[in-house]
Amino acid sequence: MSEKVVRQRKSDKHDTAGKTKSNGKKKSVKIKENAEEDSSSVLPLYLSSAAVALFSILYYVFVYQEDAGYTVFVSAKDKVDKVVYTVKCSSDYDTEKFEGCKPKKCGRTVMDNLITESDARHLKELAEKGMSYGGSSGGASILDLHSGALSSGTQFINIYKFLQSQNEALLTEEDLRIYSKVKDKIHAAIASEFGVKQNQLYLTSPTFFSRMNTTPPTTKHDEYWHPHIDKITYESFHYTSLLYLSTYGSDFTGGRFVFVDKDTNRTVEPRLGRISFFTSGSENLHFVERLVDGVRYAITISFTCDPSKAIQNPAIR
Ligand SMILES: *[C@@H]1O[C@H](CO)[C@@H](O)[C@H](O)[C@H]1NC(C)=O
Repeated sequence: MSEKVVRQRKSDKHDTAGKTKSNGKKKSVKIKENAEEDSSSVLPLYLSSAAVALFSILYYVFVYQEDAGYTVFVSAKDKVDKVVYTVKCSSDYDTEKFEGCKPKKCGRTVMDNLITESDARHLKELAEKGMSYGGSSGGASILDLHSGALSSGTQFINIYKFLQSQNEALLTEEDLRIYSKVKDKIHAAIASEFGVKQNQLYLTSPTFFSRMNTTPPTTKHDEYWHPHIDKITYESFHYTSLLYLSTYGSDFTGGRFVFVDKDTNRTVEPRLGRISFFTSGSENLHFVERLVDGVRYAITISFTCDPSKAIQNPAIR
């Protein structure tokens, strides 16, 4: 078949298509006159519908599929007063020694109005200041105001000792006042939510600021994305709370907090000033998703029923 014949055939085909598709005659005439122009104007139509189909498939695979098995428990977009999700307590509490501190029910609570955004912002600035003296070489850094532990490279230093040698101080009276006020509010909220006597519930360690970024891990401390149970990771924990100092979607992406349940993974999307607290037993297996972009700040404030594991408020030193 000569090229001329092939072209003629092509042109015929397009002519038919043009006639059936277009409303006016003008188009089909034009097609007849110039087969070349025709093929270049019809082809992109096919291409663009193919592109739309391909895009839909990719969107499904990468966006929808990625979230299959995930349910948003509390979104960063909504400011919630209080959201509660109750789960059956695990058998971890069967042998609990501290009766008055045993949870009356187990689960998770998220509150956006317990801590003010202005207090959360103040604490974030304090965390930024403290972390500026160190920081992990991997993606996760901590600063513990009680012990002074600060990630530095692949290890930890004592920020108070370090600053003493520089004749500097980290904490102001105002920092301590806000830190202590925030901690007391969370203490009271946990006691009330889980039916525990506040004077039988104590602040425990580690209680620390965390900063996560997208730097690849250099030690196991940098790998925050493995599912774990706080009561096993940190023996003294009975109740865990997290105060978020930055917001999912605007300060960072990835980094959602995930409760691993049998039916689905329930996500808490961090939001500045949002407090999330839960019983620390195996009913609350969880992890933090790997960060995709940005920097994420939070404080973990932990409580125990064991008076021998209680810690004091940090002081100016
Ligand atoms: C929860 O997420 C993990 C990791 O993405 C996934 O393997 C698992 O199937 C999810 N769970 C459910 C119940 O869908």
